[in-house]
Amino acid sequence: MKPKVYITREVPSPGIELIREHCDVVLHEREEPPDHIEIVRNIQDKDALLCFVTDRIDKDVISAGAVLKVISTYSVGFEHIDVVEATKRGIYIGYTPGVLTEATADCTFALLLNAARRTAEADRFVRRFDWTISWSPTMFLGESVWESTIGIIGLGKIGRAVAKRAKGFNMKILYNDVTRLSPQEEKELDIKFRSFDALLRESDFVSVHVPFTKETHHLMDEKNLRLMKPSAILINTSRGPTVDGAALVKALKEKWIAGAGLDVYEKEPIEKDNPLLQLDNVVLLPHIGSATREARAKMAELAAFNLLAVLRGEPPPHWLNPEVENIRPLSEVKML
Ligand code: DGY
Repeated sequence: MKPKVYITREVPSPGIELIREHCDVVLHEREEPPDHIEIVRNIQDKDALLCFVTDRIDKDVISAGAVLKVISTYSVGFEHIDVVEATKRGIYIGYTPGVLTEATADCTFALLLNAARRTAEADRFVRRFDWTISWSPTMFLGESVWESTIGIIGLGKIGRAVAKRAKGFNMKILYNDVTRLSPQEEKELDIKFRSFDALLRESDFVSVHVPFTKETHHLMDEKNLRLMKPSAILINTSRGPTVDGAALVKALKEKWIAGAGLDVYEKEPIEKDNPLLQLDNVVLLPHIGSATREARAKMAELAAFNLLAVLRGEPPPHWLNPEVENIRPLSEVKML
């Protein structure tokens, strides 16, 4: 009998095709995510689940999956999955780091340049036919990017990829992370470690690249936003709740900082009454950090490889919980 797989949304080729070659697939075909009850209902007889950041894979889903062996998430972030509970039950979890690094770093830079040079705001100005004076020495003055200072919070894969781009703009690159690089590595990357506060005080651009955990919840709160320069710009392509949204609105309105560029929010999609929508000094994107054709296709392929590897009784290329093998060895989940 073929393994049964539930896929909670269509993914770009070649993800589903790869899985269909070996498994019976139930696919949620609409663009909107399935609701929680639908996931719980569908998971009951499934051996594997391919899910997304929008699906809450909590204790209810995990306990409903009586024969569930593997959860493969089409994402590098995994705060939507109860990893501890899944591991306890011997369920393997795959994720997709690496393949979306460059796309997310590009998006970070798109936001940085856009917020610095106010290009989204200027685009709206042109479209509204507010452009009535052909040229003005004071029109849409922004902040310089070239030779400015960037502070990268969280020097993982994406933080490093952002640093590489910053080098192309001759920026001074500061970083803060829970682990400090060796002096040799810092030299090679041409980056300097700073305490969190010093980084906020010195940087013209502060870019957040930490995973969302209890510790990083509201990392950028009122106190920390107030440490930034009035000319500085905050960029967030990590997870919305790493920034205190209400404090950011205050910072932007009261001009403690010059601007922000956001791809992520505390509530997604953004709520109609979110005050950010009324502010011109913030660039807003709809969580599209990894949205290039190339990255999304590679994520689909990797998510499929992770899922199929477990069903073959092999270690997945990228898994979150290798310790699960002590609870249920791969030989016991092998179906293919
Ligand atoms: C992720 O992978 O975690 C992104 O947020 C979605 O691409």
